[in-house]
Amino acid sequence: MHEIIEELERRREAAKLGGGQERIDAQHAKGKLTARERVDVLLDQGSFEEWDIFVEHRSTDFDMADKVVPGDGVVTGYGTINGRMVFVFSQDFTVLGGSLSEAHAGKICKIMDHAMKVGVPVIGLNDSGGARIQEGIDSLAGYAEVFQRNVLASGVIPQISMIMGPCAGGAVYSPAMTDFIFMVKDTSYMYVTGPEVVKTVTHETVTHEELGGANTHSTRSGVADGAFENDVEALLSLRRFVDFLPLSNRSECPRRNVGDPADRIEASLDTLVPSNPNQPYDMKELIDKVVDAGDFFELQPDYAGNIVIGFGRVDGSTVGVVANQPMVLAGCLDIQSSVKAARFVRFCDAFGIPIVTFVDVPGFLPGTAQEYGGIIRHGAKLLYAYAECTVPKITVITRKAYGGAYDVMASKHLRGDVNLAWPSAEIAVMGSKGAVEIIFRQEIGDPDKITARTEEYQQTFANPFVAGHRGFIDDVILPRDTRRRVSRSLDMLRGKQLSNPWRKHGNIPL
Ligand code: HXC
Repeated sequence: MHEIIEELERRREAAKLGGGQERIDAQHAKGKLTARERVDVLLDQGSFEEWDIFVEHRSTDFDMADKVVPGDGVVTGYGTINGRMVFVFSQDFTVLGGSLSEAHAGKICKIMDHAMKVGVPVIGLNDSGGARIQEGIDSLAGYAEVFQRNVLASGVIPQISMIMGPCAGGAVYSPAMTDFIFMVKDTSYMYVTGPEVVKTVTHETVTHEELGGANTHSTRSGVADGAFENDVEALLSLRRFVDFLPLSNRSECPRRNVGDPADRIEASLDTLVPSNPNQPYDMKELIDKVVDAGDFFELQPDYAGNIVIGFGRVDGSTVGVVANQPMVLAGCLDIQSSVKAARFVRFCDAFGIPIVTFVDVPGFLPGTAQEYGGIIRHGAKLLYAYAECTVPKITVITRKAYGGAYDVMASKHLRGDVNLAWPSAEIAVMGSKGAVEIIFRQEIGDPDKITARTEEYQQTFANPFVAGHRGFIDDVILPRDTRRRVSRSLDMLRGKQLSNPWRKHGNIPL
């Protein structure tokens, strides 16, 4: 017995060394933590239960029989984050570059299957050179097994990917099907084909960083939901992020009461909207003042800044926030912002998270770039997402709500549950100037008449009362009362029941 315990310890220690001290040192020299160190930072101290530490690959081609490392390049298991269960896999770059073999994939699939059974999130810490080249088709099959599980788990348990090293080829497609992708600056890359292939095919010269670094994906492509300075910041932020989410679509979000009164009055909001309707203001100030203790986890903060999305809490419970941002493109909806918000709305809906929408939108962005790029189809995604969604929807119109964009932004007509407006709200087909130039085109040569017509249009529509007369908004509220009113609406909606007609699935305009 004594011997077998010693043997067990010896094997464990060997597995923990992964690809050996030299490669661990190389990992550290790049500013990266090892797979196990990452798990330790992510999970509550001592909570990690590792599985399959003894799993080995069985391939023999290309001298692989001599390259057997217990665990086969991925650390898997479960543990807790602030006391709540998650499954995790963490790829070990020191073992054959974290490449994915059949055995490595099998370990990931095993924890995904268990996470689905017990209804808890899966967090993937990705650091891998992709399919294990020596294994050929077996590693491709392994990827496909993971992809299939990603799809079946979508909308059932939250799936989160942290990209902490290279992520090339098929390796990007598993993260792409998870709910959220975060990256670490300077050390992580995602691309379908790397710079060498790009050079051969398109003759473009591009660095790893330019092609698929954290900056590229968090500002240009919108693939990443956030970028962090280093491994530790990334993992600690992930702990904070997970705390906003439910464990599955069967459970509720955790309540985290920080003692911020639900009826807190914010007098400064009364002067947030400038008197000049063309002057921007920072919508994030409103969000920060409405959510508990200003704790807002923004997603994609550097991409499509004309819409703001993220999680906060009101009176301890998670809400998803969607808000037009007048500081960027005057808050217009365009292709990028529509897609960004649509996917977020669908996540919230899938996981029962109420959505609070702050509206100041002058319409859809005009132009050939938008039309040729398919704004019709992409804008329709947001419309579809809001219309399909059955979770509590609370909408606050702070200023402009014009045209189709008014309809889209969780209006009453798309089953908005509580639709409120500030006194500064203007709910109309379009701005007064544009409207007058169309309906009084024959008077354009007469500036006095046009001024009078513009004023008339302004008087008639640039207020919340026309919508109020029809019940399209439920009340006009003082800005200072926004948090209290949102909070009370959420309370009222706690028992909301609404379901869509049976169907296999809808056909969102992809
Ligand atoms: C086997 C791999 C590997 C892989 C890296 N290694 N990638 N082994 N299969 N895919 C090994 C290296 O041989 C090396 O072993 C060790 O990992 C570290 O790699 P380095 O190249 O020394 O590290 P670095 O310079 O940091 O470069 C990392 C890298 C590069 C950018 C990831 O290794 C690379 O380009 N790898 C190949 C990427 C790739 O083309 N993958 C296949 C994609 S196709 P030693 O023993 O020397 O330490 C794909 C298809 C899936 O994934 C499709 C599913 C639909």
